[in-house]
Amino acid sequence: MLNALIEKCKPLPSGSKLLVLGGGFSGQHIASLIRALGTKTLCSRRKIDSPGADIVFNSNSNTPQLPATEVLKGITHVISSIPPAENGEDPVLKYLNKTLQEINPKWVGYLSTTGVYGDCKGEWAKESDLPQPQQPRSQRRLACEKAWQTSGLPVQILRLPGIYGPGRSALESISKGKNKMVYKPGQIFSRIHVDDIAGAILHIIHKAAEGEFPGIINIADNMPTENTEVLRYAAELLGREIPATEHFDVASKTMSPMALSFWQENRRVSNHLLCKSLGYSLLHPDYQSGLKDCLLEKKLNETS
Ligand SMILES: NC(=O)c1ccc[n+]([C@@H]2O[C@H](COP(=O)([O-])OP(=O)(O)OC[C@H]3O[C@@H](n4cnc5c(N)ncnc54)[C@H](OP(=O)(O)O)[C@@H]3O)[C@@H](O)[C@H]2O)c1
Repeated sequence: MLNALIEKCKPLPSGSKLLVLGGGFSGQHIASLIRALGTKTLCSRRKIDSPGADIVFNSNSNTPQLPATEVLKGITHVISSIPPAENGEDPVLKYLNKTLQEINPKWVGYLSTTGVYGDCKGEWAKESDLPQPQQPRSQRRLACEKAWQTSGLPVQILRLPGIYGPGRSALESISKGKNKMVYKPGQIFSRIHVDDIAGAILHIIHKAAEGEFPGIINIADNMPTENTEVLRYAAELLGREIPATEHFDVASKTMSPMALSFWQENRRVSNHLLCKSLGYSLLHPDYQSGLKDCLLEKKLNETS
């Protein structure tokens, strides 16, 4: 819930101006929080008529559409949530690197994925671990991380596990009639509520200003767990029947290659650096708290 987050967060210093490149699910939540705290914020989307779009940035069109440098004057903080291009290049660095260097922001955050750790066989994935991406998309992601790290900009890489939040959670899966849930013994997934992405990023920016600047930070909740537990809890919250369990050995026969790839990696994402060393206090430490929040938002939307 944005209000709960606003109450617990400290605004950016006056005179700050944030640029969010990629105002999708996470980008819009981050922009909403920082705007609500009084900081001027510009959000890019690929189409100007998309919700929340202040400017257009689209690297995909035949002629890439770029924001005018004039519009970006005075930007002090930048967040990119734009995924790698098919060829592994980072769309932002390809087209906006020169502009960003001219703007000379105080802080830049790049939203990456914990997929770069590869398969940890159920063990904890920490920032100090050597990334061993197996999936081509995670290899592209690591290439983008490296490009940002060598860009000369003051970048922190923020690695995210499965993102959920209002409108995009296990509640939607159950509401849409999911009647089977896949079970693979010992298979764990990590996740993060979108409000905590926004809250953690603001916290990380403040810490960076105080001189604490780790180059890579995982943003994950306290409770990596089996997906079946999450779906079961979502069904209980909605008062719906708990989906039947289907063993992975059976389910995998009809899974798409993309779905299958998620089950080939097993890791618990450590948030020790974020929550212990940097002192961020999670709004939703576990999926129970996060899903209750999603349900509350769902009910508020239904009655408004
Ligand atoms: N979803 C997950 O569970 C998950 C987990 C770990 C990491 N991640 C990564 O974390 C980041 C944030 O995730 P999310 O789920 O919030 O992402 P999202 O909702 O898919 O938003 C991605 C944003 O990138 C923009 N974008 C995509 N391709 C672009 C291009 N070629 N040129 C310009 N803009 C482009 C999209 O533009 P439009 O607004 O026009 O669509 C959108 O604003 C992403 O990089 C994602 O890959 C996601």
